[in-house]
Amino acid sequence: MDAMVLDRDNPATLTEQIVRGLRERIQSGGLAAGSRLPSIRSLAKDIQVSPMTVVKAYDQLESAGWISREHGRGTFVKERVKGRRDRGATDWQLGLIDGLPEVPEVAMNPVARGRVKVDLSNAVIGEEMLPMSGLAKVLESFARRPGRLLGHYSPTIGDPEVLAAMGAYLNLDPAELLVTSGAQEATYLAGRAFVRAGEAVVVEAPTYVGAIECFRALGVRLLQIPVDEEGLRTDLLAAACENYPVRLVYTMPSYHNPTGAVMSRRRREHLLQLAQDHRLVILEDDIWSDLYFDGPPPESLYQLDRFGHVIYTKSFSKIVSPGCRIAAVAARGPFHKRLLLHKSALDLGSPQVTQILVASFLQSGKLEPVVAGLRTRLRERYQICVEELNRHAPDGLLWFSVEGGLTLWMRLPDGVRATETVRELSYQGLNVLSGDLCYATEVLGPHVRITFSHPDKDELAASVRLLCETVARLSQRERSASPMPTL
Ligand SMILES: Cc1ncc(COP(=O)(O)O)c(C=O)c1O
Repeated sequence: MDAMVLDRDNPATLTEQIVRGLRERIQSGGLAAGSRLPSIRSLAKDIQVSPMTVVKAYDQLESAGWISREHGRGTFVKERVKGRRDRGATDWQLGLIDGLPEVPEVAMNPVARGRVKVDLSNAVIGEEMLPMSGLAKVLESFARRPGRLLGHYSPTIGDPEVLAAMGAYLNLDPAELLVTSGAQEATYLAGRAFVRAGEAVVVEAPTYVGAIECFRALGVRLLQIPVDEEGLRTDLLAAACENYPVRLVYTMPSYHNPTGAVMSRRRREHLLQLAQDHRLVILEDDIWSDLYFDGPPPESLYQLDRFGHVIYTKSFSKIVSPGCRIAAVAARGPFHKRLLLHKSALDLGSPQVTQILVASFLQSGKLEPVVAGLRTRLRERYQICVEELNRHAPDGLLWFSVEGGLTLWMRLPDGVRATETVRELSYQGLNVLSGDLCYATEVLGPHVRITFSHPDKDELAASVRLLCETVARLSQRERSASPMPTL
């Protein structure tokens, strides 16, 4: 084996350098399969490290499958196994990962994969109800202007065409807007730009799973404040602001996901007052406000805000195309520039192609009729769910009445667990969301969420019946299995 030289000024530890050096020699063939490695003592002496350092390096190489130690005979390079090179190539990461900031995995919905036939777990509107043919026409026209779409970067703030079209649709000043790759990116940017170490973010309880994931990844302290029929409990938020360093409040005032609650005008005003009193940043996720059944919700927080506390996000994933991942973000004053700088650091700007696709569709004037059609279809489907629930819901299964959006939040009878319900349903081919996933901290009772945007009405009705039957069975089982109280 050729001599190994260690660099004592290198930030990599001596063990890491030995591992790398030996692995490279094995990969390049310098150390052939079956050849004997120097003994611990002799290698330690040659490269002037302690024997313990060599032991650690050999341990790592052995556990990664590069070498084997045979008692009484020595240490040998192992035969190359097909595919091992790929596996071994990333082993160095294991030593690094503990020191990196963690992005916790949001617990997955426990479903029986492969068996699910009807999926009511995702808050999406399927392609059957979205303007696919309108978008396809726009896409066809793209071939005529490839340079405009593919030949250059979009400005970080967004393409001027899409900013103008979004401003017109949302009735907002385009100068206050920027484009992001979905509302999820906007949530990340707001958390990144405005929350410092030690400060807390308030989310609603329950809330949107993706927001929990985002704030956890940012490593901020999360507090949750319950939602009732009037939206976020601002009385409890007021108390939290007295006791914690709250900086940002993430809220969905209109057709909140998952409960569907609409924040009353009174609470909206109270929230803005609290923002003023405590210098809060409010992140308003206005994803569903167009999807009302009978009349629109109250004015957005952004429209009511006079002092620049609110950052507003409007995703076009739900009403135009999830595949485009385009959202509008609005902010006033220095916040706008701050978001823009963070957006620039993150991705320099969203893809031009999807921006222009959304802009062209907005300009075509076809979004209004699409949204009007969605309102009718969602209202019909919600009514189907309510009729089935009225007929079949067992005692203790309660649901939150809604006036828009597409999610239905149900409280399970006492003793019936959400994860168990989700699992049982998935075995029967139906996927719903476990409410446990919607809490950032303590789970406040057993719930499940369904989305009623499913295109097939009969399948939707049958799914709600199946849910009722399953919950009834679990509830019955729970009642008959309840042990005598013990001390
Ligand atoms: C409440 C809410 N906010 C944000 C998002 C993410 O939207 P986007 O696709 O624009 O990132 C979703 C997606 O389900 C959502 O339900």
